[in-house]
Amino acid sequence: MTQAQTILVTGGASGIGFAIVEAILAEGWRVIVSDFDEKNLERSRDALKGFGDRARFEQLNVADEAAVVACIARCNTEFGPLTGVVNSAGIGRDLPAFETTTDIFRRFLEVNLIGTFVVAREAAKAMAANGGGSIVNISSVSGVRGNGGRAAYGASKGGVILLTKVLAVEWAPEGIRVNGIAPGPIETPLVRDMHTQAAREEWTRTVPQKRYGTPDEIAGTAVFLLDSKKSSFVTGQTIAVDGGFTIAGMIPAGDRA
Ligand SMILES: NC(=O)c1ccc[n+]([C@@H]2O[C@H](COP(=O)([O-])OP(=O)(O)OC[C@H]3O[C@@H](n4cnc5c(N)ncnc54)[C@H](O)[C@@H]3O)[C@@H](O)[C@H]2O)c1
Repeated sequence: MTQAQTILVTGGASGIGFAIVEAILAEGWRVIVSDFDEKNLERSRDALKGFGDRARFEQLNVADEAAVVACIARCNTEFGPLTGVVNSAGIGRDLPAFETTTDIFRRFLEVNLIGTFVVAREAAKAMAANGGGSIVNISSVSGVRGNGGRAAYGASKGGVILLTKVLAVEWAPEGIRVNGIAPGPIETPLVRDMHTQAAREEWTRTVPQKRYGTPDEIAGTAVFLLDSKKSSFVTGQTIAVDGGFTIAGMIPAGDRA
């Protein structure tokens, strides 16, 4: 087993975040499962009962700056020292640009981009005092490519990729690495609500591996980036875990799904 770690996962009670929580526990590390949604949090608490005091649960809205500041300080003192953070809390929706109001656009930025920033900033303050750590921001392939319907979502996730680079530069002297993951289509509750049958067919056609990924397939990369024994010289990168979606060009007709 690698060194003991204590990791905070936002949006940790569902989908990708929950798979990362399970992978962290499987490493023998400790985890703070934080989420806005109380029902998801309650379900996670039940599912993780067997891990006893290696898991702590915090109801937290990442768009509420004062709550983030208080939660991270409290967790670091009572459950820490904090050694890592995964920013998985996020909202998604497909919406044409003509129908995207400024209120909707701001909401995406508040949760997906500014929420990620505030959590990273507060965690980094604590981790700098603890001797360093690792931050993993969950972006999206929609932050890399111009996927239709994703003006606000894509801009928020593209912002996360650039933010990851800036924070990696600023916090390298503190011993803090900052990386990201850009998932392709992954089977989660978010995607079940968001993807119509037509969208599913289009995603499957344009992903070279011709399928959706699973949350576990994101969790493996998250653990790699959190583990300073495995990724100590990796910082500022966003790794696409997407079945080849972002690198693909023309897919020969015979190879399509
Ligand atoms: N599923 C995919 O295909 C996919 C692809 C690319 C990127 N992502 C990103 O991965 C992350 C996780 O998505 P998922 O598919 O697991 O979704 P999900 O809906 O299953 O999980 C997201 C969790 O975040 C929580 N959350 C939402 N707003 C919050 C807030 N303001 N504060 C705290 N928690 C909040 C939700 O309650 C939920 O439990 C998101 O950032 C999403 O944008 C997902």
